[in-house]
Amino acid sequence: MGARIGVGLLGLGTVGGGVASILLSPQERHPLVADLELIRVAVRDLQRPRPVDLSPEQLTTDPQTVVEDPRVDVVVEVIGGIEPARSLILAAIKAGKSVVTANKAVIARHGGEIAQAAAAAGVYVLIEAAVGGGIPIIEPLKQSLGGNRINRVSGIINGTTNYILTRMADEGAAYEDVLAEAQRLGYAEADPAADVDGLDAADKIAILSTLAFGGGVDRQSIPTEGISRLQGEDVDYARQLGYGVKLLAVAERMATSEASAEALALSLRVQPTLVPSHHPLAGVQGVNNAILVEGDPIGQVMFYGPGAGAGPTASAVVADILNIAGIRQASGGDGRLDPLLAAGSWRSCSLVDPGNVRQRHYVRFNTQDAPGVIGRIGGCFGDRDISIQSIVQFNASSAGAEIVVITHEVDQRRMDEALAAIRALPEVSGLAAHLGCL
Ligand code: NDP
Ligand code: HSE
Repeated sequence: MGARIGVGLLGLGTVGGGVASILLSPQERHPLVADLELIRVAVRDLQRPRPVDLSPEQLTTDPQTVVEDPRVDVVVEVIGGIEPARSLILAAIKAGKSVVTANKAVIARHGGEIAQAAAAAGVYVLIEAAVGGGIPIIEPLKQSLGGNRINRVSGIINGTTNYILTRMADEGAAYEDVLAEAQRLGYAEADPAADVDGLDAADKIAILSTLAFGGGVDRQSIPTEGISRLQGEDVDYARQLGYGVKLLAVAERMATSEASAEALALSLRVQPTLVPSHHPLAGVQGVNNAILVEGDPIGQVMFYGPGAGAGPTASAVVADILNIAGIRQASGGDGRLDPLLAAGSWRSCSLVDPGNVRQRHYVRFNTQDAPGVIGRIGGCFGDRDISIQSIVQFNASSAGAEIVVITHEVDQRRMDEALAAIRALPEVSGLAAHLGCL
């Protein structure tokens, strides 16, 4: 048995409960788990039933006392949200304690400030659980893939929305019912709008991008669309055309000519996207997440597994605690940081003008069922040199028709021009849907 490592837990909800369960049952796990001692736990409501047995002295409603407790070596923040999480993390760092957090919202917005404070104090802030739930993706990006030039990171990084999309597609389940089930299972954020509006995925892709490309981007400028406006007929039409619909998050390096001398030019986005049914991401179902990393020389590598929930997320949190505990036991906590584990930014990155971003598009128009409409819509694309992969009419009747177009790759600016021209056609009553397409 090595030296005891005191753990202070801020939050005992879905994730905190999972972490406490692991710490209090070390049998058959890595021997270092037995050296972790759960000292104190902060909650909001002392009366709430808990999944683990704790003494009254271990529980408090004052998180500051956990951070300040001299027996606590590592502070685990699983309260969520921006404040008081940010202030508590900074207070722990100031007190010379390493921090483990699953809180992507605070890291995506204040990660730079927190990393600087940690470097100055000589402590670690580890965030494996903040992206992909139980999937190891943060440490692989920081360490195992460090020799690569990363070109693209993309994937399904919100478990709640993938769970909703899967159950809607497989069972025809109602959106509101599946969302309520995701909340009951502990997958959703405190405010589930963060999941369904794509904000949680945007936080996570901002974090992955910082690690993959070595510098942060302005979180608020990431084009973000969730699934709350996604309509069942588009999922159905996509399926008939050989695609599934997934909420994809993408971070990619732009062509060298786009990059300024000062900053690496990147495109980041979150949007519902048609994924060909043979693509590896199409098979990612339920609460699972998958992250595809493309780099040189590795090529493509995909990380897959449960993206939310108590057990998987706690697995990632405890891995971070063990990393810190292992280093502490080996070095005696001499203040020197492992540069790969600490992983600071090393260059500046900026987002390109979204008008320059190229991808394939899926669009659905409501039109009259009149001769020549398909030709005129096709002409609006052709006039702007936009190549169409398929154009299909659905549901034609005297009441009108729906025309679905999938384009080849085109920049957003030209696509917007074509859409404006199509909307102006007298036979077209509206653009009913606009999704990305892999
Ligand atoms: P929960 O809402 O289940 O738990 C939050 C916990 O924090 C509760 O125990 C709550 O106390 C406590 N708490 C909240 N505010 C305070 C406060 N001011 N002082 C003391 N305690 C407080 O959230 P989750 O466990 O689901 O999520 C925690 C974090 O982990 C979030 O950042 C989330 O984004 C992230 N995360 C969650 C995943 C998941 O699957 N749920 C997966 C990956 C990351 P009380 O119980 O008394 O209300
Ligand atoms: N609400 C998040 C999700 C939790 O559903 O993915 C995991 O980060």
